[in-house]
Amino acid sequence: MRFFERFFTKKNKISKEFKAVPNHIAIIPDGNGRWAKKRGLPRNIGHREGSMNIKKIVIYCSKIKVKYLTFYAFSTENWKRPQGEVDALMNLLLEFLRNAEKELDGSNVRIKVIGDVAGLPEELKKEIIRVEKYTGSNDGLILNIALNYGSRFEMLHAVKEISKKVKENKLSINDIDESQFEGCLYTAGIPDPDLLIRTSGEQRISNYLLWQCAYTELWFTDALWPDVNESHIAEAIMAYEKRNRRYGGLS
Ligand code: IPE
Ligand code: IPE
Ligand code: MG
Repeated sequence: MRFFERFFTKKNKISKEFKAVPNHIAIIPDGNGRWAKKRGLPRNIGHREGSMNIKKIVIYCSKIKVKYLTFYAFSTENWKRPQGEVDALMNLLLEFLRNAEKELDGSNVRIKVIGDVAGLPEELKKEIIRVEKYTGSNDGLILNIALNYGSRFEMLHAVKEISKKVKENKLSINDIDESQFEGCLYTAGIPDPDLLIRTSGEQRISNYLLWQCAYTELWFTDALWPDVNESHIAEAIMAYEKRNRRYGGLS
């Protein structure tokens, strides 16, 4: 058993051990396909396991009082995958949202989808509207699901919005600043992530929250997403607590 797993099992109330829980954690839950392959199973089984795992981690983060949790569920580049896999992912997302409030029962989680919702299947669009409305008055953890999300697309969209305002004389070029730009991103109103976790051993950002992660602390693990449990998140938070965030200044 790894040290952190042992630590977590022993001291079940690990939340009390944290000195500073990040306000916002972003997660790239990668490795579903490899998890399935290792077991000789179809990739879609890995996606099913991965989808189920999200709820466990949401409940844990909610317990330890993380305020914002942002999951990368489907990227603007994931459409390149075989149609059968894309369809399976869309169905799992639909199922996830349909069962979300029941399975997250009592955790007071508010769900918000970030990304190009217009490009999603009709059924999924309707479900997004329903679940956002249904959980809209919850004041616990805010769960952002990045769906058909790509940072480059998001930033280009922001540039177009700003250009439109300038063209219509509603905004002067001199007034374009960081807060104007942030206000046009899908994440408007959401503070930048403090900690970004990517699983499966890949150490890249894959078009995720490029603007928002300018000063985010990064943490990587070799664990494949369906194998990730509370102890991995605890390990990431403990590593985060030791970081010295300088933002270009001096500590
Ligand atoms: C992450 O798992 C889930 C999505 C991208 C939707 P992958 O499907 O990327 O799994 P690997 O990287 O192929 O193992
Ligand atoms: C990033 O994983 C997207 C999601 C987890 C939804 P990918 O598996 O798509 O990323 P790359 O292709 O390895 O960079
Ligand atoms: Mg992957």
